Amino acid sequence: MWQKYFTPTTMQQVFALLDEYRSAARIVAGGTDLIVEMERGVRRPSVLIDITRIPNLDYIFLDDGNRLHLGPLVTHNQVVASGLCRQYALPLAIACWMVGSPQIRNRGTVAGNLITASPANDTITPLWALDGEVTLQSAHDTRVVPLAKFFQGVRKTVLRDNEMVVDISLRAMSPDQCGTFMKLGLRIAQAIAVVNVAAVVTFAEAATSAARMNALVSDARIALGSVGPTIIRAYEAEKTLIGRSLSHEAIHQAAERAAEAAQPIDDIRGSAAYRRLMVAVYTRRALEQIRAGHERDVLPTRPVMLWGGTDGRFPPWSSLPLTRQGGGPLVHSRDEDQVIETEVNGKLYRVKGRSDKTLLRFLREDLGLIGTKEGCAEGECGACTVFLDGIAVMSCLVPAPRAHGSRITTIEGLGSAERLHPVQEAFIDAGAVQCGYCIPGFIMSGASLLAEKTTPTRDEIRQAFTGNLCRCTGYYSIINAIEKAAEKYQ
Ligand SMILES: Cc1cc2nc3c(=O)[nH]c(=O)nc-3n(C[C@H](O)[C@H](O)[C@H](O)COP(=O)(O)OP(=O)(O)OC[C@H]3O[C@@H](n4cnc5c(N)ncnc54)[C@H](O)[C@@H]3O)c2cc1C
Ligand code: FES
Ligand code: FES
Repeated sequence: MWQKYFTPTTMQQVFALLDEYRSAARIVAGGTDLIVEMERGVRRPSVLIDITRIPNLDYIFLDDGNRLHLGPLVTHNQVVASGLCRQYALPLAIACWMVGSPQIRNRGTVAGNLITASPANDTITPLWALDGEVTLQSAHDTRVVPLAKFFQGVRKTVLRDNEMVVDISLRAMSPDQCGTFMKLGLRIAQAIAVVNVAAVVTFAEAATSAARMNALVSDARIALGSVGPTIIRAYEAEKTLIGRSLSHEAIHQAAERAAEAAQPIDDIRGSAAYRRLMVAVYTRRALEQIRAGHERDVLPTRPVMLWGGTDGRFPPWSSLPLTRQGGGPLVHSRDEDQVIETEVNGKLYRVKGRSDKTLLRFLREDLGLIGTKEGCAEGECGACTVFLDGIAVMSCLVPAPRAHGSRITTIEGLGSAERLHPVQEAFIDAGAVQCGYCIPGFIMSGASLLAEKTTPTRDEIRQAFTGNLCRCTGYYSIINAIEKAAEKYQ
């Protein structure tokens, strides 16, 4: 898939590599977009620069000027879990919660979502409504670019081939502001937006939920996604609201103006006419939700993450006894003999040879661990779920060299023939297996859920499985099995 895979541990190393390889190179963070693009032949970089081993790039903080900052490695799930994001950037936190599935949110970053620059990408819309900016840095200079100038069209940005996004910031919401995000997809999870809407309303005074019905609006931001080449601000809709309360009439008029601002096209997910109609519907619903004070209800207090017993942060570097630590960036290439040293199911492996493949194929082809299955190879089905340093991920979207220095658990390491994991036992007891192909993935997700929540509700079990598909459609018995396993855990 690639010729050289670099694992730098400092930003200076990244800038030097970008300068050297320019358009032949791509940065890889979570890989959830890039690996799919490479598998489909949309992009063919010969050099990958993995930034996930650089320490402290997953920061979230509020500065003195009231801007909230996210580091380039902040994942969607980290935003969902962040108290700062929930308080000061609720529309972004809701958007991150609606991205893909837990396994995708565990690796996918907000920065990667922006750089892929699809107008349907969910985090761009709220960041646009919250005056988002990105800081771009190269070996030679640093520039701060507002999102409205960063995006140039469908999948086009002003990022130069020697630059890295080193920071994302947004205007923190104040107590007199309320905001939300809504998305229409063709299904609830793992769905690209047909339409998405972010709305941020400033009231003339700090408005409690009860008082919002009559409070006057002093400012409004309405941003629309998936209905134009980039995100669209619905300026006329915003103007309609200013100086008025969020009455039925004001909301109705704003929704109509928002639909007029949209520039949708027909595509496989919906016609232009349907999208325009849905812009009105979703703008109305977003404003009604704000008026009713229900926008915080969208995010569970303790959302399902599939972080197992971890805090959801990947360790920057390894505690394994590696042959080579530190120094210049590690390079795994087709031609050189650099080994991948990794601990899988408690056993240390040192593998020499071609490493230009995904972790899924590495596990199956090089380690002979064929319990992890390939269903779609695109992050959609969850059959390839493994734990990377304790966190559930789709191994079909993880480059094999990312395993270097990591601890991985596969289905083979969850229990043993003598002593099954409680989730494995429960699947047998509940008769939850039909053809069996999807089952290793479901068991991994279920085990991660129970390590996180010993008494999950049925809704939480469903949430944990949003990234797992069963083509035999055995969902009821699979959910029952997790309930049975949870009983054993207590
Ligand atoms: C099954 C599935 C479901 C999905 N569902 C959704 C969804 O519901 N909503 C949604 O919006 N998205 C969705 N996505 C898309 C994806 O998960 C996001 O876009 C993700 O946020 C990308 O982040 P990443 O870290 O994985 O990026 P990567 O794949 O690592 O990189 C993406 C791009 O950004 C570049 N890049 C990454 N970081 C930097 C940096 N710091 N500086 C410069 N360049 C950089 C890479 O070179 C690459 O071009 C889904 C993807 C999959 C596979
Ligand atoms: S999600 Fe990885 S094979 Fe389907
Ligand atoms: S049991 Fe057959 S795919 Fe799930």
